[in-house]
Amino acid sequence: MDHLRRRLMFILGGTSSKKVATNLANRLQQPLLHTTYKRFPDDEFYIRLHDNIAGQDVLIVQTAYPDQKIVELLLIQDAVHDAGAKKVTVVLPYFGYSRQDKKFEDGEAISARAIAQHISLHADCVITVDPHKEHILKFFTVPAYSCSAVSAIAQYLKEKHIDFILAPDKGAKERARETAALINCEYDYLEKTRIDGSTVKVTPKKLDARGRHVAIIDDIISTGSTMAHSIKELKKQGAASVSVACTHGLFVGGAKEKLLSADCDEIIATDTIETEYSKVSAAECIAETLLKTVLHIKN
Ligand code: R5P
Repeated sequence: MDHLRRRLMFILGGTSSKKVATNLANRLQQPLLHTTYKRFPDDEFYIRLHDNIAGQDVLIVQTAYPDQKIVELLLIQDAVHDAGAKKVTVVLPYFGYSRQDKKFEDGEAISARAIAQHISLHADCVITVDPHKEHILKFFTVPAYSCSAVSAIAQYLKEKHIDFILAPDKGAKERARETAALINCEYDYLEKTRIDGSTVKVTPKKLDARGRHVAIIDDIISTGSTMAHSIKELKKQGAASVSVACTHGLFVGGAKEKLLSADCDEIIATDTIETEYSKVSAAECIAETLLKTVLHIKN
């Protein structure tokens, strides 16, 4: 990647995405911007930039989750804009609030739109990884692109000799199909009904999983209920091992315990949200998309 030997941009890693930002800086051979972050005694956030970025392009990398990290992002954007950056690209490894992408009941906020509009205020372009629904990209008022961590996850699963992929619901069927194609194995899907935020019902179905090493694939693991039901179903049907893999590992409200007590053999997530299960990096797909769409450089 000779073209990257010259300075194209500064990369600024927010507090929620330091690893992804460092990984991107190494891959793209671009400098990390020096910053000071601290919190006041009342927990309000403070940011100061230490490099002169006037007239320079800047790539801000910050997962917009949980709420506090969204406020941090808005302050980072303000500082970068005020310092006279030329072109600002915001990378949201995980775009929080994107699941409320429409009004399900009258009077609700369209949360994905509200957050996207605020982020767009001081951005020239946005990149996010595996959004829950692709159409949320239209909520940004600047060009917005998505990329997928599916091939990085598939590569990891291939090395683990996974030989069957399961989607825990119809929404994840295409993701399972793609993953299975990349590792050259079979896949299937389950039918899930969501009862409420933390309760789901999975319709029993005969799966060809006996003696297989199965990975269940989804975009998000939140409470772990979806995965836990599917793990139990697969174990009941004689799977030799069951791993769960997702792009965004939120792991809220006892999710890890739920997965482990369902007899999960391995939990795999990417670093869009940095946890102990971030075994796969989303940096490669972000870098590829950046080169193609923002920098217009052929890799
Ligand atoms: C929903 O459609 C998503 O793709 C995931 O299946 C969902 O967010 C998982 O949530 P939980 O872990 O709480 O079951």
